[in-house]
Amino acid sequence: MSDPLILGLESSCDDTAAALVRGRRILSSVVLGQAELHADFGGVVPEIAARAHAEKIDHCVEAALEEARVTLAEVDAIAVTAGPGLIGGVLAGVMCAKGLAAATGKPLIGVNHLAGHALTPQLTDGVAFPYLLLLVSGGHCQFLLVEGADEFRRLGGTIDDAPGEAFDKTARLLGLPQPGGPAVERAAAEGDARRFALPRPLLDRPGCDMSFSGLKTALLRARDAIVAEKGGLTVTDRADLCAGFQQAVADILAEKTRRALAEAGVSRFAVAGGVAANGTVRAALEAVCAETDTGFLAPPLALCTDNAAMIAYAGGALFALGRRDGMDLAARPRWPL
Ligand code: KG4
Ligand code: ZN
Repeated sequence: MSDPLILGLESSCDDTAAALVRGRRILSSVVLGQAELHADFGGVVPEIAARAHAEKIDHCVEAALEEARVTLAEVDAIAVTAGPGLIGGVLAGVMCAKGLAAATGKPLIGVNHLAGHALTPQLTDGVAFPYLLLLVSGGHCQFLLVEGADEFRRLGGTIDDAPGEAFDKTARLLGLPQPGGPAVERAAAEGDARRFALPRPLLDRPGCDMSFSGLKTALLRARDAIVAEKGGLTVTDRADLCAGFQQAVADILAEKTRRALAEAGVSRFAVAGGVAANGTVRAALEAVCAETDTGFLAPPLALCTDNAAMIAYAGGALFALGRRDGMDLAARPRWPL
């Protein structure tokens, strides 16, 4: 018998997404971003995001069905991100999924957004449990020991900003465009990472928790010192600041990964989230894995960042475990794994 066909919906941040997945096969994955709606505000505006999700999600589902060449009647279950995330957006997805489930009589499954990210290495590469996952994005930064489709252990994470957020703020401080990560990486390519002595917070403390807000403050001070001295930043100053910042983030993530691997005692490691696109970060993590004889995996970026295929896949795994939710499925702004 073939695997069940799962429709997945995702709307917890600034991407409206729908996908159809059967087992590990992605039949369609539609992601409608909202970057242009938030561009003038320096961050995602929850009200604007919620309205855009509510407006676009039906269209997104239709597009995903069309692309997969299936009808709603053929779908076996409807999986939806029920949190954590911006509550207005999560509600838009949950309401849509409930409507579809009520209209068709199909089972409804609420999925934790983080579980979607955590199971992505299985979806893309069939990685067997257990494995260690580092999720590094604009909103998240944590180590998860993934032992089963519904068995996760958080080994540590950021105690303040997520690294992607720190990249975005760094770009803003230096007058570079958003999203900050790619802009900082481009500028850093020409820079000298050793010119500024930026801190590596929490490396002197045991455990896998991380901190990035002090790094941002140090960067701000270094920038202000140059501006006070010379009246502005040159291209070289900017490049050196970016390179120093990027290297500090890579060093923190690499050292904490070394510790998390020792604590988890697993032989497989995967990285997910937008920051995984960064070449310096990726190389530092790969080096730690090579050093510790750990398999390294970085799923394709389109599946590392927010999407609904990961929600459909995680929903399918829960469906196989017998999970079903009722019409009382709640949208949760906070939902630790
Ligand atoms: O996973 P993602 O698309 O969205 C969520 O945060 O959920 O991650 C976006 C974040 C942004 O903060 C962006 O600046 C960062 O990932 N990012 C990068 C790079 N590409 C994207 N950070 C560093 N280097 C990059 N090349
Ligand atoms: Zn995410």
